[in-house]
Amino acid sequence: MTDDVLVVHGGTPLEGRIRVRGAKNLVSKAMVAALLGDSPSRLFDVPKIRDVEVVRGLLGLHGVKVTDGGEDGELVFDPANVESASTDQINVHAGSSRIPILFCGPLLHRLGHAFIPDLGGCHIGPRPIDFHLQALREFGATVEKTPEGLHLSAPNGLHGTKFALPYPSVGATEQVLLTAVMAEGVTELRNAAVEPEIIDLICILQKMGAIIKVHTDRVIEIQGVPKLHGYTHRPIPDRIEAASWAAAALATRGHVEVLGAQQADMMTFLNIFRSVGGEYEVTDARPPKLGDPGQEGGIRFWHPGGELHAVALETDVHPGFMTDWQQPLVVALTQARGLSIVHETVYEQRLGYTEALNSMGANIQVYRDCLGGTPCRFGRRNFKHSAVIAGPSKLHAADLVIPDLRAGFSHLIAALAAEGTSRVYGVDLINRGYEDFEAKLADLGAHVERP
Ligand code: EPU
Repeated sequence: MTDDVLVVHGGTPLEGRIRVRGAKNLVSKAMVAALLGDSPSRLFDVPKIRDVEVVRGLLGLHGVKVTDGGEDGELVFDPANVESASTDQINVHAGSSRIPILFCGPLLHRLGHAFIPDLGGCHIGPRPIDFHLQALREFGATVEKTPEGLHLSAPNGLHGTKFALPYPSVGATEQVLLTAVMAEGVTELRNAAVEPEIIDLICILQKMGAIIKVHTDRVIEIQGVPKLHGYTHRPIPDRIEAASWAAAALATRGHVEVLGAQQADMMTFLNIFRSVGGEYEVTDARPPKLGDPGQEGGIRFWHPGGELHAVALETDVHPGFMTDWQQPLVVALTQARGLSIVHETVYEQRLGYTEALNSMGANIQVYRDCLGGTPCRFGRRNFKHSAVIAGPSKLHAADLVIPDLRAGFSHLIAALAAEGTSRVYGVDLINRGYEDFEAKLADLGAHVERP
């Protein structure tokens, strides 16, 4: 057990208003994209989270000057003096994030070589990078795996290619985009991921001078250009964080307004939220004008009283139900009457956290079969990737150890929903993806303290 613990006195509904800023899973990639420009880039609404710090550190090591802009959350990147960094310096960031793998293309373009440390990120299965490396080789990169990390070079430059992903991987799609934009010739990527964060990254690259066409049926065509310039961008808000607070409102029978939450990016979540019995109201943003201060948009989520209903859902790539929405929502499903089914089809080992919920009184069984939906690629591979949640269960306090980011937030929600005082260990992991979560909990009236 560590000293990194939060004491949670549960049983109080979360009530109040919080704000989400730029999406973690876009902002870090936007920062990497700044390496490709020949002039400074400016990014707004950057949350203060661990992944941003890691990427900022890596950019700094490669000669990109990163400074705080005039607005809170604004970062300015000056790539005028991009340079090589030593493997020792880079290795300081080993194991801290998965984002470094996305430095490959930009560094190959700027320096002709790249060193990528051992990756980190959440422990939610093996998380291979084979699609990334296969794509980079297709572009003409050579990849050497060593015990200290990956050494890449592009002795003959990078050239456009036709490539189909075996699965619409978010990271591999981003890898292809960040490499293809300045590769010579045209790249056609099939079976690409089309998450809103990817579309926002495409918007950034387009602002920088890239030519990218998003066709139907997951086909993206990129026409390489010889040079890109800096961008100015306000990223899409974090839809995973927004849904996490929504789930917390439901599980604690509370009422939370999430400023910044955007309906269009959360449609699938909102449908499930309503099916479970939660209520929400969308407030559209209104720009200020004379005599009217305007209004920030967002979504209010609440538990309307009475019973919640069991649902069946399947996680999937966009526009499906995000895998990262699954863990927080399952806590609310422990309070729903009947049998809910969750079929996890994106990661093979993302249900381990349910054991902790069971230790608090939940009744969740996990299965190797593809339950409730279409068979997925994990069906015959012996992974426990389907869950049946029988509810409602009265949750009681427990001592919990956080295993990864999203599961960690679900532990926190469970502790907030449970009667009694829980101790949640390893809460610093939550800072990887949830900005100021302790301050937000306080704003929502949660009774939590550091011992
Ligand atoms: N995959 C491979 N080989 C690869 C790449 C992926 O087999 O080379 C598999 C993975 O093992 C997984 C599936 O493809 O089973 C999907 O992985 P994907 O590449 O889409 O995930 P990622 O890019 O590593 C991002 C987010 C995750 C989010 C997933 C899915 C970032 C930094 N991470 O990961 O977010 O769950 O997409 O939407 O963008 C989180 O925020 O907590 C988080 C884990």
